[in-house]
Amino acid sequence: MIFSTGAANLDPEQLTGFFVGWPNPPGPAGLLRILRAADRVVLALEADRVIGFCTCITDEIYTAYIPLLEVLPEHQGRGIGSELVKRMIAGLKRCYMIDVCCDPGVVPFYEKLGLTPMAGAVRRNYDRQSLPD
Ligand SMILES: CC(C)(COP(=O)(O)OP(=O)(O)OC[C@H]1O[C@@H](n2cnc3c(N)ncnc32)[C@H](O)[C@@H]1OP(=O)(O)O)[C@@H](O)C(=O)NCCC(=O)NCCS
Repeated sequence: MIFSTGAANLDPEQLTGFFVGWPNPPGPAGLLRILRAADRVVLALEADRVIGFCTCITDEIYTAYIPLLEVLPEHQGRGIGSELVKRMIAGLKRCYMIDVCCDPGVVPFYEKLGLTPMAGAVRRNYDRQSLPD
């Protein structure tokens, strides 16, 4: 397995299987658009397939937000998710705020990585979940 920080050379065929459990997920081509549009990305690749990814939106001077993190189910529990977050945070040392908003059940995962629980508030435009255009 290798880690990479660029999505420029990826093809959609390398990005299948993500957004598990989402009712109306983006497809591989949509995920590729998301990865390329993010300010930062860390990928885990095995046998030329992406098996995990983490994205970041940041101003590069003060704030950073980690909106997406996922490891394919068959590769979970191998430390890959932790490594993706560690590598992302390592590149954001200059930022004061590094924020994640997640389901309550995932908070312990982020606590193990040194993040502190805090309340959040979100809005979801569900008609945009599938990334229609
Ligand atoms: C959350 C996720 C990325 C973790 O990836 P992973 O590669 O399985 O995680 P790791 O193997 O690095 O696990 C590290 C530790 O966190 C724990 N952990 C992993 N997933 C967890 C979860 N969903 N909730 C709570 N703890 C979790 C592991 O048990 C492990 O604990 P240990 O160090 O005591 O053994 C993965 O479960 C996933 O893709 N989930 C679906 C998408 C999701 O919830 N993403 C987060 C959105 S903000």
